Amino acid sequence: MCGIVGYIGDRDTQTVLLDGLKKLEYRGYDSAGIAVYTSKGLQVAKSIGRLANLESKLDGAPLEGTAGIGHTRWATHGKPSDVNSHPHTDHTQKFSVVHNGIIENYLELKEELIEQGYVFVSETDTEVISHLVAREYKGDIVKAVQRAISFMRGAFALGVLTEYEPDRLVAVRQASPLIIGIGEGENFIGSDIPAILKYTRRVYILNDGEMALLTKDAVELMTIEGNFISREMISVEWDEVTAEKGGFDHFMLKEIHEQPKAYRDTMLGRIDEKTHKVVFPNLNMTPEYIRSIRQIHIVACGTAYHAGLVGGSVIEQLIRVPVSFEVASEYRYRNPIITPDTLVIVVSQSGETADTLAGLREAQANGAHVLAITNVVGSSIARDANDVIATLAGPEIAVASTKAYTSQIIAFNLLGLYMADIRGTMEASEIAHVIAAMQSLPEQVESLLAQSESIKAYAEHISKHEHLFFIGRGLDYAVAMEGSLKLKEISYIHSEAYAAGELKHGTLALIEEGIPVIALATQDALLEKTVSNIKEVKARGAEVMAITYEEHVADLMRSVDQVFAIPKTLPLLMPALSVVPLQLLAYYASLALGHDVDKPRNLAKSVTVE
Ligand code: F6R
Repeated sequence: MCGIVGYIGDRDTQTVLLDGLKKLEYRGYDSAGIAVYTSKGLQVAKSIGRLANLESKLDGAPLEGTAGIGHTRWATHGKPSDVNSHPHTDHTQKFSVVHNGIIENYLELKEELIEQGYVFVSETDTEVISHLVAREYKGDIVKAVQRAISFMRGAFALGVLTEYEPDRLVAVRQASPLIIGIGEGENFIGSDIPAILKYTRRVYILNDGEMALLTKDAVELMTIEGNFISREMISVEWDEVTAEKGGFDHFMLKEIHEQPKAYRDTMLGRIDEKTHKVVFPNLNMTPEYIRSIRQIHIVACGTAYHAGLVGGSVIEQLIRVPVSFEVASEYRYRNPIITPDTLVIVVSQSGETADTLAGLREAQANGAHVLAITNVVGSSIARDANDVIATLAGPEIAVASTKAYTSQIIAFNLLGLYMADIRGTMEASEIAHVIAAMQSLPEQVESLLAQSESIKAYAEHISKHEHLFFIGRGLDYAVAMEGSLKLKEISYIHSEAYAAGELKHGTLALIEEGIPVIALATQDALLEKTVSNIKEVKARGAEVMAITYEEHVADLMRSVDQVFAIPKTLPLLMPALSVVPLQLLAYYASLALGHDVDKPRNLAKSVTVE
């Protein structure tokens, strides 16, 4: 999730671009850059690291001009570096592109362009776009962009500028957000509204498959096939703070709602639509190595550890290799038994968690191949790991992790299918079946989010309680742990997660009249057993809310006080759905209690100390 901005008009272009990028820095801060049409032609300045680095660079050598594009990067393809920063230009330096998204077929396009003599300088997918536009240019930048994107597959929001037509700025939206800001004698583009709010409140929201041609006095909207369209202009009433949260009251709620996109982005480019198999073109693990793995250790902290519990259980089922799990703060000091055929998977949203990083180093010191699942490609963990699978959830601002957790689950599922294919533990048809179910998850999450109000009402109810329990079996137990952590960390209500069958070995003594128990019952094979455990707590006066899928609602209603229904998917994918109501529950409980949802007491987003 990068941020893009563009401007055409008579103001100081550099200032407008930098103002926009400041508002977009939450979308990525691996590097920043701008391209401006100046009296010397198209000029580019870019710098690794936060925007401040670019600002210092420009202090000594400002770019003065009348049109420009800017970018703040969240690295996906290619590590954070000056050369991988946007804007990207073609080798003639006449075309400049900023891009948010992923070009799925960039490797094929890159090979083709190299054969045709185009010289690449970066490792990014974006650079293919600048060369494609240059190749397709025959005197009209709009047509060149249209032809270029007809070769591209994936998600992209683009801003394109050429020195040949400095009075025209082209913007494209295909599955990555983009808005157009309308001024007087000036126009803007931005990844979102805050980027341009300082200058205008009048916007067009582009839909997927649409593009715009901006001059300083006009904006033409069209489909990417070139058919002109008209669109109602929106007048934005939000203040700046609300705008930064995309209209949501808190970053956490915004991030919960971003999950369908995070799922799609994490799958993007990793599913081969022809073979219906998972592909990871950049992994260093060879098929021979994957076939040689005899055990897997999963090492992480907090929510990332909980994602590991779900993901590791899935992998164990899919490839029938023993998987063990450990919180990193224990693993690093336990002198774990690591053999050359041990794959260690570390999971971390930030990629900077000190304990997880130490776990990684401990594993490597003992000869393990370490694969990191992380949301920050330029992080310490990503740099040190032998292999990286990036979760493409985009920056997570709220301390309580939501979209990173679910994207980690998606990444684990992809990895499991990938290894199962190589190890021959699943038939191609079985893999295709799971992939199809995964591809339905984003829409299913959307339908769950549409039912937020019923969770809100229940959250207000439980916010009056001091203690509650989450129970479940199998994958439901792993999700129960995450639900309990989420609730504790932002609502400060004490809760515990229990393997449903374990309650009677002690904890049942805590169940008394009226205590809320949230029971996850999504695993078909374990359903009857979970219902028996629900009956045990009901008999002791607990008030039970069950989470299950539609088919079991009527049955469960006989044993519980309330049921929240989630859509049906395969049992191994249920966690990607069942956690969503629990995230909303924690959010609304915290809200009801008047806490600072995004910045809970005593906690930090990235824990870089032991
Ligand atoms: C809870 C939460 C934490 C993190 C943990 C690890 O919502 O966010 O439990 O999951 O501190 O952080 P990362 O994933 O950055 O290694």
